Amino acid sequence: MSYFSGGRSPQSDHSTPTPNFNLLAGPYRWLEYLTFGPWLARARYAFLPRLTNCRNALVLGDGDGRFTARLLRSNPSVRVHAVDASPAMLDALVRRAGLHSARIVTEIADLRGWSPGPVDRPYEAIFTHFFLDCLTTAEIQSLAETLRPSLAPSAVWVVSEFAVPPGIFGRFVARPLVWGLYQIFAALTGLAVRKLPDYDFALGAAGFTLRESQTRLAGLLVSELWSGAPHS
Ligand SMILES: C[S@@+](CC[C@H](N)C(=O)[O-])C[C@H]1O[C@@H](n2cnc3c(N)ncnc32)[C@H](O)[C@@H]1O
Repeated sequence: MSYFSGGRSPQSDHSTPTPNFNLLAGPYRWLEYLTFGPWLARARYAFLPRLTNCRNALVLGDGDGRFTARLLRSNPSVRVHAVDASPAMLDALVRRAGLHSARIVTEIADLRGWSPGPVDRPYEAIFTHFFLDCLTTAEIQSLAETLRPSLAPSAVWVVSEFAVPPGIFGRFVARPLVWGLYQIFAALTGLAVRKLPDYDFALGAAGFTLRESQTRLAGLLVSELWSGAPHS
């Protein structure tokens, strides 16, 4: 494992400060289990069995690294570039990877405006679990467009996110719940984003194509598999 600063992250371009998740790195896992039980984990791991051939992965905003640890265990050849703004989260990620941490390169960066710089080997998979909701739609589109030149032709992008489904459950349960989560994260981390971005629009506009979607908890959680190839 090494800390790396090969990418580009012009933080001064942003009108809002980088959120600070450092204090949450320790309790994050337990807070998640107390509120959502196993459901967020199930959403994260939804497409993992399909990606055992992936050799070079980019994991953005993985937080305390439970997904990265599972990816490394399930795929003995994969190398991971993990980028997050929180040093404490990245430390937790490396600790959790244990013996597999030699296959991780970590990078501390604000992903708004970040680019990977020149890459030796193109990424075959990008993973963003409950991270895109920390960005605006425009920031996601910009990030996706920046990543395209660094992707292998067969690359996939795996997304897990909260969603507000149509209907009574969406209106009276999911929407207030998501609103409440944003208030809590704003108070604890300084996150400035206050509503779910339209990441479907952003990824589509950047040339990605949705291949498969799964929902959990009546549509509150979505797991999606996007392809880097344009729609055929
Ligand atoms: C809500 S947590 C999600 C963590 C994990 N991926 C999960 O599945 O629960 C968001 C993560 O993204 C990181 N993050 C939020 N905004 C960021 C930004 N602008 N640049 C880089 N990392 C950011 C935080 O530090 C944190 O680790």
